Amino acid sequence: MADIVKWTASKIKALKGREKFACLTAYDYFTARLVDEAALPLVLVGDSLGMAMLGYETTLPVTLEQMLDHSAAVSRAVRSALVVGDMPFMSYQVSREQALQNAGRFVKEGGVGAVKLEGGALRADTITALVQNGIPVLGHIGLTPQSLRELGGYKVQGRRPEEAERLLADARALEKAGVFAIVLECVPRELGAELTAAVRVPTIGIGAGPDCDGQILVCHDMFGMTPAEAVPKFVKRYGEVGAVMRQALSAYRDEVRTGRFPADAQSYS
Ligand code: KIV
Repeated sequence: MADIVKWTASKIKALKGREKFACLTAYDYFTARLVDEAALPLVLVGDSLGMAMLGYETTLPVTLEQMLDHSAAVSRAVRSALVVGDMPFMSYQVSREQALQNAGRFVKEGGVGAVKLEGGALRADTITALVQNGIPVLGHIGLTPQSLRELGGYKVQGRRPEEAERLLADARALEKAGVFAIVLECVPRELGAELTAAVRVPTIGIGAGPDCDGQILVCHDMFGMTPAEAVPKFVKRYGEVGAVMRQALSAYRDEVRTGRFPADAQSYS
């Protein structure tokens, strides 16, 4: 059997300028196995699980314990990809000590190979402390959903020149702090290209245009499990899993009602 490639933060960093790569979120064992089998190098246990899995309206209520449980399920499934655990709201903002302790729990209990946290220059000291203590960090700037209240909603970021300048400074600060890659969420494609050219670590875009080094999507959006009206412009639906499930459910309901299930084939004699 061929040896399995084990993706690490430094291998992903080394993809910069060499090859474009696709990443995806996963929150459960089954989906994570599929993502891993498809040879995606990075799987993010995103705090978007608050909406995708738990029915919250935002990521803000997601707890550290929920993230740890889902990270552990994903880690049990994955053999090759780098599993990144997303640090939830208020699990790293309070102090460097808090961030270190909680990121440590992601590694020990969640089995992850790296953590992600939101924010630019403001988070640089925290990120340096994590990296110096052996925990690789994925940065995240642009639309940062944990700051939804302050940003005033889900809006494209960096359209004004002063915002674009700030994002450029943030990307450079993250690179200096030691992140292995940076998620760019919801910025104009021109700014996505500019930020990608400005740093020596890969950018991973979600609504940041085609020039980023990698791309990431939320798995439920990409599989067609999110209602079409709730899907942002940057999503491409690569399948219609929701429609297939609905069809299967109707068939099951009708066959039970009409006595066609279970048939002989599903019965013991
Ligand atoms: O939580 C998440 O899924 C994310 C991605 C959108 C990058 O942060």
